[in-house]
Amino acid sequence: MERISISLPEKLLEEFDKILREKGYVSRSEGIRDAIRSYILEHSFLSQLSGDIAGTISIIYDHDESNVLERLTDTQHEFSEVIDSSLHIHLDRQHCLEVIVVRGNSADIKRLLNRLKAMKGVKYAKLTTNVAEIPG
Ligand code: NI
Repeated sequence: MERISISLPEKLLEEFDKILREKGYVSRSEGIRDAIRSYILEHSFLSQLSGDIAGTISIIYDHDESNVLERLTDTQHEFSEVIDSSLHIHLDRQHCLEVIVVRGNSADIKRLLNRLKAMKGVKYAKLTTNVAEIPG
């Protein structure tokens, strides 16, 4: 085993520890190992997607974050070829949930997903698809 040392925002660590307690983990290291495994699994799920796909991208963002609405709108216009529609839900005073229905080239959809994941103010972005390849 390798030992690593990482820096995390206090709040993120608190939330992570809370999950570990709920799940009954006795060791934080084991929880981190499992979290890394699921990160890797998600990546390999995304890398095997090819051809045309259909699905949804769900994002949660903080609308108080500077220009996030404008950046989201710009991005969605840029990817309008693979976006069919979207649904906006005001979660609380500060947070919005948006469900974006996507259909088309998987490489473009993955680029859109990565753009959303990296966007400042976007706290969560997940692609769900049951259609790995649309039958011809
Ligand atoms: Ni909203």
